[in-house]
Amino acid sequence: MTILPILIAPDPRLKLKAKPVVEVDRRIVRLMDDMLETMYANKGIGLAAPQVDVRERVIVADVAEKGEPRQPIWLANPEVVEASPDLVPGSEGCLSLPDHYADVIRPSWVRIRYLDRDGVCREMAADGLLSICLQHEIDHLDGILFVDHVSLLKRNMILRKLQKAKRQGVYA
Ligand code: NI
Repeated sequence: MTILPILIAPDPRLKLKAKPVVEVDRRIVRLMDDMLETMYANKGIGLAAPQVDVRERVIVADVAEKGEPRQPIWLANPEVVEASPDLVPGSEGCLSLPDHYADVIRPSWVRIRYLDRDGVCREMAADGLLSICLQHEIDHLDGILFVDHVSLLKRNMILRKLQKAKRQGVYA
């Protein structure tokens, strides 16, 4: 497995829409495995393919707590098929916006349809941290970052700080 470089915002490649996966073949499974390894190496709880510069609709996640056994999930073509009418705020961060956090308001639970790593179509319901994580990762597939859900002022402040850190070679 390979640890892949993660794109750091602001980066126009993070704003592009990803294409549906046609078939969960060996190449996609390999991508899922590399993404999961990359996510663990960076202590993340979710990662979307556009963050590793691949414009395909693949995400991985693991919201198991420290000390618990790992609970990896791999999803191709994930889509929200039902969302809670209740909206709740939750603190979010992102491996593409390191060291920045903001409260984002989202549906408290969602039902998601996806292809698993065997290419089987499945549905899962998610609430709590997994719900936030999956909605955040699905957003990435449409070129949406968590800062796109907060005020323009806060968004610009975070993106300017990241831009400056990138210029200084912090993430090189
Ligand atoms: Ni993210």
